[in-house]
Amino acid sequence: MRRSEAVPRHAAVEAPDLSSPSVALLPGDGIGPEIVVAARRVLDAVGEFEYVELPVGGASIDIHGTALTDEVLERCRAADAVLLGAVGGPKWDTTDPGAPRPEQGLLGLRKGLGLYANLRPVKPSGALLGASPLREERIAGTDLLVVRELTGGIYFGESGRDGDRAHDDCAYTVGEIERISRVAFDAARGRRGRLTSVDKANVLETSRLWRETVTRIAAEYEDVEVDHLLVDNAAMQLVSEPTRFDVIVTENLFGDILSDEAAMLTGSLGMLPSASLGGEGPGLFEPVHGSAPDIAGRGIANPLATILSAAMMLRHGLGLAAEADAIEAAVETVLDAGLRTPDLAAEADAAVGTEQVTAAILDRLRP
Ligand code: IPM
Ligand code: MG
Repeated sequence: MRRSEAVPRHAAVEAPDLSSPSVALLPGDGIGPEIVVAARRVLDAVGEFEYVELPVGGASIDIHGTALTDEVLERCRAADAVLLGAVGGPKWDTTDPGAPRPEQGLLGLRKGLGLYANLRPVKPSGALLGASPLREERIAGTDLLVVRELTGGIYFGESGRDGDRAHDDCAYTVGEIERISRVAFDAARGRRGRLTSVDKANVLETSRLWRETVTRIAAEYEDVEVDHLLVDNAAMQLVSEPTRFDVIVTENLFGDILSDEAAMLTGSLGMLPSASLGGEGPGLFEPVHGSAPDIAGRGIANPLATILSAAMMLRHGLGLAAEADAIEAAVETVLDAGLRTPDLAAEADAAVGTEQVTAAILDRLRP
């Protein structure tokens, strides 16, 4: 527990730490500020937290000319947990390789905080089965966890341009594959005991190393049943038979793509939370969706993925499992009551806004 490090070493008995957990709030761009405010209100209904709000992404580019300053990274490192909205938007879209891009802020945080394990749980709410573009009987019973490697692979390989040629290198070391495999095997052990490792071993050398390493680590986990799928086949099975999956472990780029695909099983990308863990310091918690600049400022953004990310933060980052359970239960009852932002609503005129959904959750938390 990081906060107890503040206790003087000479203290004979470790004093209980009575200060509130500190949360770095990084609203970012687009709908980011709206959904982070909603999540903060929900957090305040279940506990006491100290917040520090910091710019990242386009918001930071506008002020500092870079998507993540060293100071913001340091202040995040000093917090107990980091809650992020979303980054990016057309204002900063560029193909100029030298220009700053909002996404660099997110990638810099993940790398800078050493967050190599990204957990993306996908469990459609019963009330939303009809909101998915997939048939209800196909997705009912889906309950899977994508464990995405987050600080390696093509995202962080050497890249560049050379005349009319561009390249992005993908590299993985045995150590990087081992540590993410262990996170996934441990997660499978705490769930239904099935792990699917996804790669492209019929084409890529990194994938062959991946498969070889996962197979070796599997010997440490005889109680977990493992299978290996090629990524194209995994993409197909995610929509044809999502209930076959328990834990999916995969490299950075495949995990990015498969988790958006899996998100649609829940009805909307606006529902999926995530936790990024593995560093020595705080974890980073953020919705899987992007900054949706087209609907920013209109009060209609779905805050649920961020609110559910705040619940993951309480559980995985701050050791407050009961508070996390309370938030998740409140979200479920609000969905059961039929409240839907436009991304989930069957008919647009039946939809409500960010404020109504948030207020309804607060009502359930403070009866
Ligand atoms: C995600 C996002 C990011 C990623 C972008 C914004 C860099 O798509 O978290 O899935 O590719 O990792
Ligand atoms: Mg993505």
